[in-house]
Order: sequence, then structure tokens, then C-alpha cells
Amino acid sequence: MAAVTNTIFSPATAARFDRLVTLYPLKRSALVPMLLYAQDEIGYVSEAAIQEIATRLDLFDLDVRSVLSYYSMLRTKPAGKYNVQVCTNISCMLRGGYEILDHCKRKLGIGHKQVTPDGQFSLEEVECIGACCWAPAMQVNYDFHEELTPEKVDGILAEYAAGRGKDVK
Ligand code: FES
Repeated sequence: MAAVTNTIFSPATAARFDRLVTLYPLKRSALVPMLLYAQDEIGYVSEAAIQEIATRLDLFDLDVRSVLSYYSMLRTKPAGKYNVQVCTNISCMLRGGYEILDHCKRKLGIGHKQVTPDGQFSLEEVECIGACCWAPAMQVNYDFHEELTPEKVDGILAEYAAGRGKDVK
């Protein structure tokens, strides 16, 4: 592994990265997990994160950027405090996914991949999030919300806005 003497990450994340590169026969196999952990810590994958991860994996920055641009769940700009991801894939689409997405756009006043001016919410249209049986569904950060209606969405967003997002079921 190329030496990283001045990490931008917390000691816990840096230690996790040190271990990750030992788990795979090819170091670059740790790339996607590292990008996800970096995003969890920083909120997005910054330029500094790209450079450090490339160094850790003996890759060019361009190799990291290529993978980064491929995966829609990875972002290079900060998201809102609550990142609202509305699924419009087939099951959700058939059960009103686009109405839910349009409702979120109107309610939050932002479009796909945009952030509210106060930084509280961001919105994304996404592919299947694995909650098809309970369509239409959305994910806010790591919390799932299912069998949505516009009224239910209003309640969920209000709970997050009030700082009670974890309590929403
Ligand atoms: S299609 Fe929406 S969760 Fe699978």
C-alpha cells in the first residue's frame, strides 16, 4: 500500500481503510466500500477523499473518478442533512412512484439532485431500493418509508424537519 502520512479521515475510518486493503486479493476491490465509507463520514466524496483513496489503492485519480461517476449512490457534492431518495422503478412506478416524486418536488421546492436553500433536504429519483413489496417507497438517509401516499410523505418530511426523523415508521 502506498503510504498515507496525512489522512483526511477520522482515526476509526483510517483504521477501517487500513484493514479493507488486506481483505481482497486485488486492492482495488476495496474501492467501492472505501468510497461509501468516505461519503458516510464527509457527506460526499471530496477531491481530497478521491486523492487519498487513490493513493491507498495504488490507483490513478482517474480510476477512482470513473467508478465514482458510475454509481448513482455516490455523490461529489454535499447532499442535504436528509437525503430523500424516491424510487420510480417498476413496482413503485405502477403504484404511484412518480406522483410521490412530484409531490416531494413541490413540497421541498427542489428537483432531482438539488438541495433546499437551508441545506436541510436534498432529493433524488432513484432506481429500486429493494422495498418493492411495499411500493411506493423512498429512503431518507438509511431509513426506509413504504406504502407511501402524498399525505404520508407530508408527515414524514415534517418529522424530519422537526428533527424527529428516526421516530418515523
Ligand atoms: S421498484 Fe421501488 S423499491 Fe423496488
